Amino acid sequence: MPGLLLLAAALLSSWAQLPAEASSWWSLAMNPVQRPEMFIIGAQPVCSQLPGLSPGQRKLCQLYQEHMAYIGEGAKMGIKECQHQFRQRRWNCSTVDDTSVFGRVMQIGSRETAFTYAVSAAGVVNAISRACREGELSTCGCSRTARPKDLPRDWLWGGCGDNVEYGYRFAKEFVDAREREKNFAKGSEEQGRVLMNLQNNEAGRRAVYKMADVACKCHGVSGSCSLKTCWLQLAEFRKVGDQLKEKYDSAAAMRITRKGKLELVNSRFNQPTPEDLVYVDPSPDYCLRNDTTGSLGTQGRLCNKTSEGMDGCELMCCGRGYDQFKSVQVERCHCKFHWCCFVKCRKCTEVVDQHVCK
Ligand SMILES: *[C@@H]1O[C@H](CO)[C@@H](O)[C@H](O)[C@H]1NC(C)=O
Ligand SMILES: *[C@@H]1O[C@H](CO)[C@@H](O)[C@H](O)[C@H]1NC(C)=O
Ligand SMILES: *[C@@H]1O[C@H](CO)[C@@H](O)[C@H](O)[C@H]1NC(C)=O
Repeated sequence: MPGLLLLAAALLSSWAQLPAEASSWWSLAMNPVQRPEMFIIGAQPVCSQLPGLSPGQRKLCQLYQEHMAYIGEGAKMGIKECQHQFRQRRWNCSTVDDTSVFGRVMQIGSRETAFTYAVSAAGVVNAISRACREGELSTCGCSRTARPKDLPRDWLWGGCGDNVEYGYRFAKEFVDAREREKNFAKGSEEQGRVLMNLQNNEAGRRAVYKMADVACKCHGVSGSCSLKTCWLQLAEFRKVGDQLKEKYDSAAAMRITRKGKLELVNSRFNQPTPEDLVYVDPSPDYCLRNDTTGSLGTQGRLCNKTSEGMDGCELMCCGRGYDQFKSVQVERCHCKFHWCCFVKCRKCTEVVDQHVCK
């Protein structure tokens, strides 16, 4: 069937023409990776079929195939958290397709891009650390972190903890691989972007690592808590997201020097630490749809008429104005407690005014 072959060839060549940046391991979040038990025999092709992997990541995929589903899970968690943190902003972290995931906006080395790299790297640390603890991976198990010095003497240290050491190391290897493979001229803009990505990946990983904390469980006669067992536990991912959002707000503007190092644009500010986010390009305003920058624009976005923040109609709609419409909302109401033991509610409908950007 020559027609089909031609079609296939056309698809392949158009795919090959995508710029290198256009596809990313983030796509593992969009194309769920099959569980390892489903492809034990002849496993190799799976890695070559996964979209978005760089050559180095493909090699890691072959070595650590059972990790791939968790990398996908981590990416998904990162994307979801990004969408939560930016839900009320002009750029709302929406995904646009399956291979590039966020589209061309990631080609701009902006604050938003910085956050996205950090939160997705954090997602991978989180997912891999947890998978180790749950015994899902053959190369790692419970955390082997030493007993904290300040843990009371009679508490036991030994529950199975999240393995953040392993999660951190693996995520570093995998997520950074694609940056380390690039070989740009020292001091070039492209090299600046590589350094930016590496710094933000690291900040994301460290947030998860640093926020993991001791958790304990009581034992003893009828819950007397005379005995406690403790272990290392990941922080809730929402807290990691909140922390990285703060880092986004205080991110440092950098530029590449001729010697190939990032330096502050404004030298009066503090030097960023490895836990800080950095960016090299100013953000577009994300107001209008622009296919060159990949901005989707804010037309049609819901806004809050009375808010003066980023979610307010004035800022969200970039001064273009907004349309009002009525929408019916259903809520639970007049809830009564019945003996014993359930709560019964009625359904109330309310007509509310909503506003969308022109
Ligand atoms: C899209 O953005 C680019 C870069 O900021 C700008 O030069 C161009 O004029 C914009 N195009 C439209 C249609 O707004
Ligand atoms: C995010 O923004 C895009 C583009 O403006 C819009 O299509 C999408 O519905 C928004 N998502 C949410 C959850 O508001
Ligand atoms: C709109 O903004 C106001 C002021 O910030 C706030 O009190 C209100 O809860 C917001 N409404 C919605 C629907 O988010």
